[in-house]
Parts: sequence; structure tokens; C-alpha cells
Amino acid sequence: MCGIVGYVGKNKNALHVLIDGLKALEYRGYDSAGIAVINDDKIKIVKSHGKIKNLEEKLNEVDNSYIGIGHTRWATHGKPTEVNAHPHKAGSVTLVHNGIIENYEELKKDLRKQGYKFKSETDTEIACALIDSIYKTSNNKLLTLKKANEMIKGSFAFGIIFDNDINNIYSMRKDSPLIIALGDNENYIASDVPAILSFTNKYILLDSNEYAVISEDKIDIYDNNLNLINKDIKEYEGTKEVVMKNGYEHFMLKEIHDEPKVIENTFKQFIKNNDINELIDNMPDLSKYDNIDIVACGSAYHAGLIGKSLIEKFADIPVNVELASEYRYKKNFNNEKTLTILVSQSGETADTLAALRKAKQNGTYTLGIINVVGSSIAREADSVLYIKAGCEIAVATTKAYLAQVLILSLITINKAISNNNISKEKAKLILEDLKKLPNMIDDLIKEKEKFEIIAKNIYKDNNIFFIGRGVDYAISMEGSLKLKEISYINSQAYAAGELKHGTISLIENGTPVVAVVTDENIAEKTISNIKETKARGANVILITTQKLNEKYGDSDFYDQKIVIPNISEFFTPILAIVPLQLIAYEVAKLRGENIDQPRNLAKSVTVE
Ligand code: M6R
Repeated sequence: MCGIVGYVGKNKNALHVLIDGLKALEYRGYDSAGIAVINDDKIKIVKSHGKIKNLEEKLNEVDNSYIGIGHTRWATHGKPTEVNAHPHKAGSVTLVHNGIIENYEELKKDLRKQGYKFKSETDTEIACALIDSIYKTSNNKLLTLKKANEMIKGSFAFGIIFDNDINNIYSMRKDSPLIIALGDNENYIASDVPAILSFTNKYILLDSNEYAVISEDKIDIYDNNLNLINKDIKEYEGTKEVVMKNGYEHFMLKEIHDEPKVIENTFKQFIKNNDINELIDNMPDLSKYDNIDIVACGSAYHAGLIGKSLIEKFADIPVNVELASEYRYKKNFNNEKTLTILVSQSGETADTLAALRKAKQNGTYTLGIINVVGSSIAREADSVLYIKAGCEIAVATTKAYLAQVLILSLITINKAISNNNISKEKAKLILEDLKKLPNMIDDLIKEKEKFEIIAKNIYKDNNIFFIGRGVDYAISMEGSLKLKEISYINSQAYAAGELKHGTISLIENGTPVVAVVTDENIAEKTISNIKETKARGANVILITTQKLNEKYGDSDFYDQKIVIPNISEFFTPILAIVPLQLIAYEVAKLRGENIDQPRNLAKSVTVE
């Protein structure tokens, strides 16, 4: 999604800060970029379509500056063109914007009547004109911003420079993230921490309906009544390393290699000494709830499906997994006996945030499983379990997904113990397996050659199927999403038992079918379904466990296979996804695609 950076100070050239910051935000996905800086006391705007290097090529048009705002745009209203790129200027106001102004058509009509003319197709230019028009009559900047906030429906984070106040950046936000970062006699704004990590790790989180005036030596923040307020200064724990590839060809590959450490960091929050009682003390108590809703989008939704499978099987609580974009507009059958779990890496996904608010309105207790500390969902949920994935840059999530599944597994183990569904002795063995999990992931990652061979075998195909039953179906869905989002191959996941109800008609000679068979209880049934595809010429790639391989591996129902080590059922889905992530990666690489920033996608989907 869009990215914002702003700088004010005399220690650095604002142009360099803006470009460096925008580059650090490239991972969010964008299709045009622009900056506005003050040169010779006047605002100068440079914008370009496409990548930041196009913008850089045009920057000789402007000189050094001490203040500026920059933006990467991911098109929502209007095509990805230079005219539609930010910053926009109307009258005395220059502005960059993240979010969506929902009532922009209505505002546009009024502004046209006042004589405003618009060059772009964007909602942002309307917001810019609105602020200018209010300012013309109020002549008070903070009152202007407050009034604009009242008039705008939708979400926004703004960085603003007024023509008659060229030493200050103004900011306000509602439902789109914005931070203000602190330097030494210099300050910054940014939509996300990585943008400022080259310069500082100290920052303030601006909340919705707050306003900020930022100069080189002062940051004033006001609440919605325009009273000056004090805000906590936070320190980002990570270093700039997290936004660097560290020698890997792509962030996605680096992040897959981070997985063993992420798994360890995640479970060590709850279990340091391998003592089951620690887990019981540190996990939420589910005994109060009759049912659970898990609400999320994309891969986080797939993690929720694994959670459902585990919780229902081992903890005996019915679980309803919903796509947040559907949940927010449908009738929900929840009450005070429902626990609503929101799963989100970014903690800023607009649909998941809206679902959280709806669940809270209905009086249900909300639990976030979140990566980004201090994100909107993390702050608004009644409680949070953090995954410790660190900064995830590649648009295709890998390490964060694994950690989400791990948290859901730990929640289940805890509840299964308290239900007496598993004994404490059995739980100890499960924890022994948990300790082995990071090394097992590491060993799987090392099987690089196997993934390359499979990738060579399928990368020219146009249609690839993923099949499985039960938890293996949920794993297949994630495997299929990973492949399609980065390789652009049409791939679909199907419940293996459903094939003969329609989909099997698509299988022809050589069609790749990736079959996930890890669940012992249903393995034979899935293998029958695989044989049905094989009989019709499918090129079957089997993902299975050591144990099932010993039992069924000699048969001839597959063409290639990856065998994952035996581990407790709670952690098999974590191991099974690793080969699928790496196969997707190798396929996309062979096809020469932009692996870290696939077309049309954004890392954090902050618009509906
Ligand atoms: O930040 P979130 O976890 O809420 O994001 C949810 C989805 O947008 C995300 O998982 C998306 O599906 C990824 N691109 C998948 O790799």
C-alpha cells in the first residue's frame, strides 16, 4: 500500500532522506512516487510513474532542502499515472495521503462550486482542496485540520505543508498508521518504522484523531479537542538489518531462512524452561467460551483454518473461521460466550480492523494474534498475543504465517490440557517436539535442490492444483496462494474429496497436482483421490510425513515427493508449509517474476 515519509531539519538533505525512506517502504507495494520539498522558499513537487528510480532521475530539477514530504502510491482511485501520484497541491496546501476518502465525490461537487478545478482522478486531491478551502476562511491551521477531519469519511494519514508555514510539517490520521520519528534537531514522519530506521529508532505513534505540528526542534501533538498532549516515545527493538536482505537474493528467501529463529522466539515468550505449567499460565483461558470466531484475511485466514482444525479436534470448541471482508457485512451469531480471534501480521489490515470493531460492538471478547507491536488491531483488541516474526518485508508472508499457526497450536495445547484431552505427560512430549521444530525447519530449508527440481518440472505450466483433506486442505490453500501470488500461475486448492464433483474435469495429461498428505486419519482417503487424478494423467507432487511415507511411499501414485520429519500433530502443518513456500519461491524465480513485490499487491492492505 501507499507509503509516507517526511523530514524537517538542517542536518541532512531532505531529498536524500525522502528517497532513502521511500526505498525502505518499497516492499509495501506501489506504482508511482513523488516528493515535495521547499526550494528558495517555494514548494517544488516532482512525481513519476513507476519505480522510485524514475523519480530519482528527475530529481536534478530540485536542489537541497531542509523540509519535504514524499509518497509511494498504490493506486485505488485513478490509474497509476504521474498526475495521480502524490503529493497533490491545491491553493496553499501540499499534501501526501494514505487511506481512502469515501465521500470524495460529494466533497468534490461542493469544491467545484467553490471554483476548484481538479487535474487528477484521486480522492487525495479532493482532501487537499478541502483543507485549502477551510483554511481560506478559518486562517487557523489546527482548526482547519479538525474541521476537515469532521468532514472526511474514510481513512487517512496526511503529511501536509502549508505555503505560508514552510518550517513545519502538519500531520493527522484516522485509521491509517502514521509515526513521528525523533532525531537530534531533526524530525520525521512515516507511515511505517522501516522508513526511518536508517536515521533513528525513536518514534511516537500518532493515534486516530490526533494532530501534529513538526518542526526541526519541536513536536507538538494535539488531541481532538486541540489540547496539547504528551505521548510516549517508543524505541524500535530491531535494527536496520531487518530491512536488509543480508546477502539473500530476495527478502522472501531471507524470511524463510528466518523461520527457525522466529519459531523459537515465538514459543519462548510462553515457555522458557520447557515447563508445561508456564504455558498454562501464559496462554489465554478458553474455558469461558462456548465457541470461537477466527477472523482474518489471506494467509492469516489460512492460519485460522489450521487453528480451527486443531482447536476442534483437541480442545472441543466449535470454531468458525471467517474472511474479515465477509464477516464485517454479514449477520454474526456471536455473544458474550464467543471469543473472537483476529489474526494479522501487520495489525493494520482494514477489513480485519473493521471486523474487530464489529465484534467488540457485539460485546464479544477480542484477542489479536499480531506481529506489529503498537499496530491498530494490537491496540484495539482486548488482549494480544504477539508473534515474534520481526519485520516482514516480502509481500508474500512466510515467517509470520508460521508463527501465527504456532500461536494457534499453543492455544490449543493449553486448552486440550485443561480439558484433559491430553495428559500432562503427553504435553511434555509435545513440548519436546516443539524444541526440535526450529532445527527441523532448518533441515527442510536445506533441501533446496529438491525444491529446485520440482520447480523446474512445473514452472512452465499454466494451471496447478493443490489438494488435501482436513488440515491438509488448509495447508494446500496456503501453498496455492503462495504460488499464485508470486509466480502468477493460476493455482487452486481443492478439498481432495470434492474433486469428482467438478474439478477433476480440468485434470489432463501432465497437469501438476500438489497433494498434501500429513493427517494419518484421513491419509488413505486422500491417497484414493490422488490416484483418481493420477489415472487421468496428473503429474503428482506429494508432500507427506516420514511415517506415512513408510506406510504408503512404495506405491506409484505420485511422481515426486517431499518427506517431512515426524513431529507432533500440532506442529506438522508448520513443517508442511515450508516446502510449499520454497517451491513457490523457486517457481517464481525461474519465471523471472518480481518475487518480493508481486504485481498489484501490497504488503499491508489498509484500504477496504
Ligand atoms: O497483515 P495481515 O496478516 O492482516 O495481511 C493479511 C493478508 O493481506 C496477507 O496474508 C496476504 O494474503 C499475503 N500477501 C499472503 O502472502
